[in-house]
Formats: sequence, structure tokens, C-alpha cells
Amino acid sequence: MGQMKISVIGCGYLGAVHAACMASLGHEVVGVDVDAAKVAALASGRPPFYETGLEELLGQTLPSGRLSFTTDVTAVAGADVHFVCVGTPQRADSYAADLSYLDAAFRALVPHVAPGALVVGKSTVPVGTAERLADELAAVQPDATVVWNPEFLREGYAVQDTLHPDRLVLGVPGGDAGERAVKILDDLYAAPIAEGSPRLVMDRATAELVKVAANSFLATKISFINAMAELCEVAGADVTSLADAIGLDERIGRRFLNAGLGFGGGCLPKDIRAFMARAEELHADPAVSFLREIDSINTRRRERMVHLTVGVLDGRPLAGARIAVLGAAFKPESDDVRDSPALDVAVRLHERSAHVVVTDPRALANARRKAPSLQYAETVEEAADGADAVLVLTEWRQYRELDPHRLLGVVAHPRVVDGRNALDPAAWRDAGWTYRALGRR
Ligand code: UGA
Repeated sequence: MGQMKISVIGCGYLGAVHAACMASLGHEVVGVDVDAAKVAALASGRPPFYETGLEELLGQTLPSGRLSFTTDVTAVAGADVHFVCVGTPQRADSYAADLSYLDAAFRALVPHVAPGALVVGKSTVPVGTAERLADELAAVQPDATVVWNPEFLREGYAVQDTLHPDRLVLGVPGGDAGERAVKILDDLYAAPIAEGSPRLVMDRATAELVKVAANSFLATKISFINAMAELCEVAGADVTSLADAIGLDERIGRRFLNAGLGFGGGCLPKDIRAFMARAEELHADPAVSFLREIDSINTRRRERMVHLTVGVLDGRPLAGARIAVLGAAFKPESDDVRDSPALDVAVRLHERSAHVVVTDPRALANARRKAPSLQYAETVEEAADGADAVLVLTEWRQYRELDPHRLLGVVAHPRVVDGRNALDPAAWRDAGWTYRALGRR
């Protein structure tokens, strides 16, 4: 495998992990970010966010001298491959993706791209973006090539997903430039390809669409099971048994059929919205108008959780009730609270004058910044102290494995609402708790 010189522009969840993983594959990598604090933390081996295995990987790769981080974009000069990994969040004024970070990063990069180099986009973008950037690059450096190589990593498994991807998608231009780009990237990704990761070559527009189609499908699967949960609730049925039963059909599959509070995070919600916005620009909005329903099923779950909480209080008003919220991160194994369903429910309850105390094993600092008006506690016991109801809103292992007897002496009333269908209802009921869940009796 050839060792290459690589730059990674944008060192957030995606770029920092990508930079460290590429260095661990033997390449010489410089990571660039405009955030000096982030760069300093990464350069000293301390990830500015929690991601399983990243600190260890930085500890292994930084001392080798193959990995460095800087705010100085001129450091990318001489790289064979430039990866663009900046965020494309939802715009404040519409559903569309905010491409200002991507455009700024690309424009800063272009003057330093050498003839023959590749500019490889990994950010999730509206279809057509790669062609536009390719035109911009060609005007300055006609001998360089833009490739779109979307990333499918899951937070919490990012290192594993980057080193052992379930597929590599290369969106390349036609002709010699495309063939050459594939050869370079085959060399760069020689290790995962040798391990058997399928590598798919396609045009750039298809590669861009693969990413949003994949996330739209995942969001659809989750909202489908949550729609079934709504029906289970009115019919007195059990969505978990339903998911187990339909999931055994291999064509359906059990993964991503966990009903509950629904999806959040920095990807699924904004990606389906950006997809709708882009489809509208392309006059193809009917093709993805179902995503509007997927989105609204998803946000309905949050309000339903508030209703369940009101219901479990047995007539006691929500205003003034003490509510323990277990979980602030948008999912377990992450400290990310971007569009977190858990934090959203906590805020909704607080806005209805409940006394909310939130705990989380990893996300407290981010949650405090995002929702400073809530009260926070370091431990489950502290959060549950004197609680009128305990809500499990992020299914961290330590919450799934909670001993129902342990909290009995701590809470004021043994009432639990399982927002992630993560607990064993029989065990909690047998221990004397009133148990309620989304989509279950
Ligand atoms: C998602 C995709 O899974 C990745 O493949 C993709 O690369 C990434 O977005 C991205 O675009 O960068 P991620 O946001 O890390 O990854 O999180 P997921 O594991 O997909 O979970 C998303 C949300 O769905 C979470 O809030 C989770 O709690 C929820 N979820 C997931 C459910 O409610 N039910 C399920 O059965 C599964």
C-alpha cells in the first residue's frame, strides 16, 4: 500500500476521526480547522468530543509524527488527496442545508491544490454540489479532480466504521480523470478494500444521492415503527413484539426498528429536510414529500412522551412535579446533543413548569450549554432523588441495566416512563413500579 500525503479540512466528528484513521493506515495526515481550541485539543491527543476509541487512536498516531493538526490552511499544500469534512447543518431560515462552511473551506483550499491532486468531499451535500465545486476548481486548477466519497459512519462507532466500512462509495467524473481518481483512492483505502469492504464507483450526483437516500431510508424505518407504536397505543398492542415479529422477515430486518422517542442528532433530521428542500429546487418535491410525514411522526413522539409523563402522574399536576430525566445525548455512546429528542422532552417538561433534573454519563457539559435553564445531576440517584416520575430518554447501557430495586428508596413515587423501550417491564412492575412506555401497554 502506498503511503500518501493527505489533508483533512474540518476536524469535527467526521474529520477528526477520518484524519486519525487515515494516519493509522500509514498515511501522512494534516487536519485543518478554523477553531483554534479544537485544533489544540486534537494536537495534544484530547478529542474535543466523546467518540469511542478516538483518544486511543490519537495516542497511537500523534507520536508517530504522521498526524498533525493546524489552523493554517497553507499546511495542506503538497497533499495528494484533500478530504473536505466540514459540517452542512440546517439553515436557520429554511429546511435547506447551510453550505456556507463548505464553500468557505473549499475556497480556502483551492489555491493550495496541486496539479494531479484530488479534492474528495465527504460532507453530506445537496445533489449537484460536487459538479458546482468541480467547475470552481477547474477554473483555478484544471489538472485536479473533485470526487464525492460520502461517509456512513455512526457516532459512537465512528473509528470502527471508518477503518472497516460496510461500503466505499466513489463518485467520480467520467474519462481518464475519473479512472485515475479511482486508482488513487483504491490505493489510499487499500486496507479496508483488502479486508473485503465493497467499493462502488459511480458518478458524482449518484454518490451524493446515495448518502441522503441511505439516511432517508433509516429515518423512514424508524418513523414507520413509531407510526406502528401509535397504533399499538390505541389498540392496546405491543410494538416491541410487533417489531420482533416483522423483523424476523429478512426482507425487513430487525435493526432500526426500535420504537420510542425517535431520531435526532446532527444527521438524520437535517438530512431529510435538506433532501426535501433540494427536491423542491429540482421541481421533484412529490418524490420525497413522504419525508414530511416521516419528520412529523418523529416530532410527534416527543409531545407524546410529555403526555405519557402527565398520565403517569396520576392526576398530580405536571407543574411543580419532580421529573428525573435519564439521558441527554441523542443516542447512547455519544456526548452529542444536537437535536436530541431526550433534551427536547426535558425542555418541553420544564416549559410546562415541571421541576426537571437531567443526568447523562457523557453529555452533561454539552446539555448545560444547550439548555442552561434545566437542572443537572451527575448521578442517577441525584437526579431521581424525590422524583415523582423517572423518564428513560436515552438508552445508555447503565440505564438499561438499572436495578429497579435500587431506586425504590430514592424516588418519592415509583413511576417510570421508558422512552426508548429499553427496560424490562415485568422486572420493573414486579419491583413495585408503575411502568409506561411508548407503544406498549
Ligand atoms: C446516522 C447514520 O446511521 C449513519 O450511517 C450516517 O453516516 C450518519 O447519520 C451521518 O449522516 O453522518 P448517527 O446520526 O450517528 O448516524 O446515528 P444513528 O445511529 O443513525 O441514530 C440516529 C437516531 O435514530 C438516534 O437518535 C437514535 O436514537 C434513533 N434510532 C435509531 C431510533 O430511534 N430507533 C432505532 O431503531 C435506531
